[in-house]
Amino acid sequence: MSRSATGGAHALVGRSPQIEAVRRLIEKASRNRLPVLLLGESGSGKEVVARAIHDARPCGQLVPIDCGSLVGTLMESELFGHVRGSFSGATADKKGLVELADGGTAFFDEIGDLPLEMQVKLLRLIQEREFRPVGALQWRKVDLRIIAATHRDLKTEAAASRFRQDLFYRLEVFVIHLPPLRERKQDIPLLVDCFLEQARESGLAVFCPGEEVMRALLHYDWPGNVRELKHAIERMAALYSEGAREIELPSALRMSAESKDLQRLSEAVDDRSAEEFRIPRRPPVISLPESERRTIVDALAATSGERGKAARLLGIGRTTLYRKIKEYGLD
Ligand SMILES: Nc1ncnc2c1ncn2[C@@H]1O[C@H](COP(=O)(O)OP(=O)(O)OP(=O)(O)O)[C@@H](O)[C@H]1O
Ligand SMILES: [Mg+2]
Repeated sequence: MSRSATGGAHALVGRSPQIEAVRRLIEKASRNRLPVLLLGESGSGKEVVARAIHDARPCGQLVPIDCGSLVGTLMESELFGHVRGSFSGATADKKGLVELADGGTAFFDEIGDLPLEMQVKLLRLIQEREFRPVGALQWRKVDLRIIAATHRDLKTEAAASRFRQDLFYRLEVFVIHLPPLRERKQDIPLLVDCFLEQARESGLAVFCPGEEVMRALLHYDWPGNVRELKHAIERMAALYSEGAREIELPSALRMSAESKDLQRLSEAVDDRSAEEFRIPRRPPVISLPESERRTIVDALAATSGERGKAARLLGIGRTTLYRKIKEYGLD
């Protein structure tokens, strides 16, 4: 895939209806400077979306603030800066992350981990657009956009008094949910292409995922979402580069198929009507042409009908694929 199609290394890849909906929300969000809350499991692309919102109308810089790492007494100074002499060791005035983001975007990552005493200061920052460095007497005005992200359920956190209700209400005005990868598996082939391209650019010898590999990639549920897929592709490319003759799937992928079968089996054993359960049976033998036809149908489905990609998946030429599609009446 060309860079123009991916829109750069940080672009949001995917054509599933869920990702198209996210794209529309990014476009909407980029038209104003209201706070945005990004929700989604780990690795689902929250930071990619934050950058896309910022980049859509670039002004200032995007300053990522990892709320989980803001601990201890220096936390407030990290965020809001301090004035000289405000505590021992404060030998000079220092700007905080919030001031660095002035004119741009402050990305509060893992906002659910922000300590309560900082949450109240963030609320003031959102409502009044002002902050006060440690030791300063004056409030300072600032013009920034706030994007927050979390994998936690903030509503539950607020109900349990671990997150301020008022801050939650402020943030939930514009929410973008990042769907987990298992709910948009049709994006997998495009993402694989994109990560293979990135692996090639970093100097690795790139493999062509055959039918079996693609089937395993599509079958697996990706609890670590896109990040896990990216790492899996990088690892496979690295091993392939080192001269492995076969593409080695990560063990989690190999095991998932086996564990799914085992799970079905144990459910069946637990239940009296075991016979009605779908214990995997050996499939009936089918003719070679029929098997070929089904494989082509699978490849077309896995590539959302993109014939060039389907041909690559199948390890055959494009013309051969066209001929076979005609032969089997699949067009
Ligand atoms: N739709 C996507 N297209 C291309 N790359 C993606 C996409 N979603 C995620 N990635 C890639 O997957 C990795 C994880 O994405 P990201 O850091 O945005 O996830 P996250 O939701 O912020 O995860 P965490 O909650 O763990 O911080 C990154 O390398 C990112 O570039
Ligand atoms: Mg993140």
